[in-house]
Amino acid sequence: MKKPLAVMISTFMTLALVFSLTACAPGKPAETGNSETTKKIGIVQIVEHPSLNTIRESLIEELQAQGFKDGETITIDYQNAQGDQTNLKTIAQKFVSNNYDLIVAIATPSAQAVVSETKDIPILFSACTDPLGSGLVTNMESPGGNVTGTSDAVSAEKIVELAKRISPNIKTIGALYNSSETNSISVVNELKEYAQKNNMTVVDATVTNSSDVQQVVTSLVNKVDALFSPIDNTVASAMPLVTQIANKAQKPVYVGADSMVKDGGLATYGINYKVLGKETGVMAVEILNGKKAGDIPVKTMKDMDIYLNQTTAKAIGINLPDDVLKEAAQIFEN
Ligand code: TRP
Repeated sequence: MKKPLAVMISTFMTLALVFSLTACAPGKPAETGNSETTKKIGIVQIVEHPSLNTIRESLIEELQAQGFKDGETITIDYQNAQGDQTNLKTIAQKFVSNNYDLIVAIATPSAQAVVSETKDIPILFSACTDPLGSGLVTNMESPGGNVTGTSDAVSAEKIVELAKRISPNIKTIGALYNSSETNSISVVNELKEYAQKNNMTVVDATVTNSSDVQQVVTSLVNKVDALFSPIDNTVASAMPLVTQIANKAQKPVYVGADSMVKDGGLATYGINYKVLGKETGVMAVEILNGKKAGDIPVKTMKDMDIYLNQTTAKAIGINLPDDVLKEAAQIFEN
């Protein structure tokens, strides 16, 4: 009797010990397991303006739809540089030293800052108008290395052709942009080539930051028949001010993006940024699932639509032609 009891007790104690060990086990390894499998994503955005916010929100929505939910299966660290180049560099360096699994850079200046900080961490740029001219990739089809992304390239020619349907007498166009934004330069160059072939003159009006806008636009409006601004981050964040000055001078402002029309520009022939954000999200999922960024082609949006602002048209005494109104994807009326 005694022996079996002792055996039973020792067996029980062994079992209890094993049990207590295994009972502890789920706590610790699970924690370590989590921090190993939870991917960390840094998102850097150059400035706060509606278009860039739409891209970010739509990208996060797509990640979530595919099972990558912030705070659960992934961790997102979102940083905004408030239009400041020095902030961009600090953010990029922080993302790299934190060794994040993926860096998403919204707009060209952010992408350039991140690309110059790492050759290892996957970089997904978003809405960069001219990835080649901006030095982000050397090949759109097979970028190679650690970089890929989406482009919001538009056609300056198509925007001016739309402008001529609305205001047929345009001869002189003022090109308003930040000369350090490489995303704007390629579009303005295209505008200049088009103008040369079509007997139009382009007057350059460059800003270096948003506080230049008031003075530059005020001196430009009286020299031109219309203004043209490409997909420029600096001008986009000052669009209400641009509109106010141009409307007073009764001059139309043709722009590169729908949000700039919403903020008072007269018209554009542009892309849908919600779709672009979603496409960027699809690429983010591919990278999170192990695909090499450099093996994914850069995606350019193909569908372009007309966006108009009826309130601005009325304010400057322009009658938007019926055929243009009919073709428009969206007519803003504030
Ligand atoms: N295309 C811009 C870039 O390359 C970024 C951008 C996206 C943007 N949507 C915009 C700029 C709307 C101005 C307005 O940096």
